[in-house]
Amino acid sequence: MCGIVGYIGEREVTPILIEGLRRLEYRGYDSAGIAVLDAAQGNERRRVRVVRCRGKLSALEALLRESRPVGRIGIGHTRWATHGRPSDENAHPHQHGSVAVVHNGIIENYVSLRQSLSQRGHRFQSETDTEIIAHLVDEELRRGGDKDLLAATRRALKQVEGAYAIVVLSEETPGELVCAKNASPLVVGLGEGEMFIASDVPAILPYTRRVIFLEEGDLAQVSAQGVRIVDLDGRPRERPIKEITWSAVAAEKAGYKHFMLKEIHEQARAVTDTLRGRLQHDPPDALLDGFELDPARVRRMFLIACGTSFHAAKVGEYMIEQWARVPVEVDLASEFRYRDPIVGPGDVVVAISQSGETADTLAAVKDARSKGALILSIANVVDSSIPRASNHTLYTHAGPEIGVASTKAFTTQLAALAVLAIHMGRRSGALSATRIEELLHELSAIPAKMNDVVAAAAQIQILARRYGHARDFLFLGRGPQFPIALEGALKLKEISYIHAEGYAAGEMKHGPIALIDENLPVVVLAPRDGTYDKVMSNLQEVKARGGTVIAVANKGDSDVGAVADEVILVPQTVPLLQPLLTVIPLQLLAYYVADFKGTDVDQPRNLAKSVTVE
Ligand code: AGP
Repeated sequence: MCGIVGYIGEREVTPILIEGLRRLEYRGYDSAGIAVLDAAQGNERRRVRVVRCRGKLSALEALLRESRPVGRIGIGHTRWATHGRPSDENAHPHQHGSVAVVHNGIIENYVSLRQSLSQRGHRFQSETDTEIIAHLVDEELRRGGDKDLLAATRRALKQVEGAYAIVVLSEETPGELVCAKNASPLVVGLGEGEMFIASDVPAILPYTRRVIFLEEGDLAQVSAQGVRIVDLDGRPRERPIKEITWSAVAAEKAGYKHFMLKEIHEQARAVTDTLRGRLQHDPPDALLDGFELDPARVRRMFLIACGTSFHAAKVGEYMIEQWARVPVEVDLASEFRYRDPIVGPGDVVVAISQSGETADTLAAVKDARSKGALILSIANVVDSSIPRASNHTLYTHAGPEIGVASTKAFTTQLAALAVLAIHMGRRSGALSATRIEELLHELSAIPAKMNDVVAAAAQIQILARRYGHARDFLFLGRGPQFPIALEGALKLKEISYIHAEGYAAGEMKHGPIALIDENLPVVVLAPRDGTYDKVMSNLQEVKARGGTVIAVANKGDSDVGAVADEVILVPQTVPLLQPLLTVIPLQLLAYYVADFKGTDVDQPRNLAKSVTVE
């Protein structure tokens, strides 16, 4: 949710922290701050100096222009509030005594910890759970009396329940940082005579590609020369060094006005990468990177996810049921985890998550796995928590998605689900070799067709200007287009702040039809599939009540044009792959409406890219 950076080495630390935070700002952005062991105060002993404030990184930079700490070791943070409102006092880092801390996650027992600390005479400056960690570590450091920051942090964390990724800095131990991870991501970047710490890889890519991903319960003592990893009991742990292959440029806007627009345009490339090596022609098959999923051994199948990934799961349900003839249950991870699901050995849970860090999805995965289910995840961020908690992962290879609104992550999830459904269909015998060959052909043709849709962006920009003043929107679709209606409504809501509803078109007469008047644009998904005639009737029903219809239909369809007010044409493919194409105009519509309204497209209010807390 929030972003963390840390540095120790020979360079001046403040610019490195600020640059790292800039690359992480998309993770959270209601306040920002840094803490530096400041060498510029004329004291022999370096003091921790904290500069932090409410607002975006630019507000912190303005403060630093007035007075900037100078040192070679420091930590930084961008925050998305969980405990305590966004304010200067609640911004990280939090300091107590000689210790400063940045933290992502939630300390669940912070109320009782705060009470007992108060009884021991501690006074608090903020409303955050994080400040408690600074108090605990400082207390343990003084109690130990041996200037052992790692041991003090271990003892402090043993008292803590909840999710955390933390980095700790102390005046008492000026040659090291200590960091720890439990249920929130943290990575250590290895340089020559310098080390970096971050919650996410892009923050350290300009400096190093050699990284260690910390795992659950790890603590790392990081000096300029090396990293020592232990568990909470101080036992040494070995973690592999990995080489990051992402280019730094891939995480930048590449000339587009917003990351979201860039990511919409990247979808053909992203889907190509997702399909690469997974479509086999002789014999026709779809491959899961060496993993075999035989439907004969599957008792039940669940698809679980949140937000946009949930919409992908809904499309996946149609793919798996129709192509593999295996029954599927789809659930929101936040519902699944709390309904004591009947799940166990023989069941397969497919967890879908771009970030691989969504707290509800991760908790659902852990619960299902502990009950004996096999977990297959579809994720974008390599080595993130959900893949690590899974038996097998099908990565989507979308590359970093920085816009908060998910676009290329969604279409690559659909591509991965298509691969999974074909794989299962071949093994269940529901798909013949000829049919598989046809589906492989259609899948391979999708990226070029996506580029066709994106190329028509100018038309959608005009529609956005024409209808962007509306107070509400309705999105209608049937079958696999119903989740696309949900997704179109979600996109519009989250970045343009216009109220929108997605509905199964057949449900319209059960309520939403009452909303229709000349002020309500209705986006109707009407590709030529098995329910085309039914959708056309729904379209007529909207027109008959004075509604304005924006239809998304297939190229060559002149019938829709005769009824709808506006028509956006997309290329034809098989019905279950059509969502990969029909969603793009809806992404563009949301984008251009938001841009036209001047909202913060990449960082919409109240949202964060990865929801790593409940
Ligand atoms: C989509 O535009 C969202 N911002 C959000 O719904 C997102 O899809 C959801 O939080 C799930 O994230 P995940 O895929 O990283 O698990």
